[in-house]
Amino acid sequence: MNLHSEHRLDDSAARVWNSDAVAFLRNLDPASVDLIITSPPYFIGKEYDSSKCAKDFLREIKRVKRWMVRALKPGGSLCWQVGNHVKDGVLTPLDAIIAGEFFTNSYLNLRNRIIWTFNHGAHASMRFSGRHETILWYTKGEASTFNLDGVRVPQIYPGKRHYKGPRKGEWSGNPLGKNPGDVWDIGDIWGIPNVKANHVEKTEHPCQFPTALVRRLVVALSPPGGLVVDPYAGSATTAVASLLENRNFAGSDIDLKYLQIAESRLQSLVNGNLQVREDIPVHMPTGKEKVAKRPPHFICV
Ligand SMILES: C[S@@+](CC[C@H](N)C(=O)[O-])C[C@H]1O[C@@H](n2cnc3c(N)ncnc32)[C@H](O)[C@@H]1O
Repeated sequence: MNLHSEHRLDDSAARVWNSDAVAFLRNLDPASVDLIITSPPYFIGKEYDSSKCAKDFLREIKRVKRWMVRALKPGGSLCWQVGNHVKDGVLTPLDAIIAGEFFTNSYLNLRNRIIWTFNHGAHASMRFSGRHETILWYTKGEASTFNLDGVRVPQIYPGKRHYKGPRKGEWSGNPLGKNPGDVWDIGDIWGIPNVKANHVEKTEHPCQFPTALVRRLVVALSPPGGLVVDPYAGSATTAVASLLENRNFAGSDIDLKYLQIAESRLQSLVNGNLQVREDIPVHMPTGKEKVAKRPPHFICV
């Protein structure tokens, strides 16, 4: 296994290997990883897919899963980011394949099935256009980290107060914002900013996921200074999110071409000139609000 590159930002390091996922995972120390976030090949005919067959997706999940479980710390988290397998207009939701495969796994517990939506993509003519993908969040036993305060989003009316009863005058919502829920809407003003052609984050990788999507998971599901892993690293989005949030990263990709993209992205990050699209921060009520009002960046339609 060849170490392809190593980049450091403050106290964190991102290491990326040119390797098959299993060979990489087998080399990790058992129970050493806080969080795995990954989007595996969907086997839909992308340039890196070895076939167009959904059964091969299942075979790949079976091949890697025990090595992922082995690498995770007790209480560690595993997030699978997947969409649909589509062949000749026939859909197979890939999260259903993973959920079926992990259903009988006594080590992993499903915590959330997160749906994230986007409002662009291929326009279907004989069915509704696909506008979401999913993230299955598993933990190895009980979750050891869930930092909700780190990922809260603005309430619609952040200054809203109880208007009667013993708490009259106090804020009725959490001043740090609300739980983002399990539907992350890109169309929302505080949704995850997406990555598509011409956006500042877009690289030559054909299937990059948005940094903000991964960043929210990194903050919520791993401790500062912890180790985050992506065995199908592609353009290293998980590595970028990890370094931005002061976590360490280790990952692999089988294709040297993508690792070169990853390398230049990480180098830009270290040099301070990588552009990422950020979540809109939570509006903090000042305490002077007389009436409930929407945050200034809320778009009224
Ligand atoms: C869906 S993409 C991941 C994209 C990544 N999340 C990003 O934001 O750039 C899947 C990646 O898996 C890689 N891959 C395919 N088979 C692999 C294998 N057996 N081992 C490691 N990587 C593999 C592909 O080269 C591709 O870059």
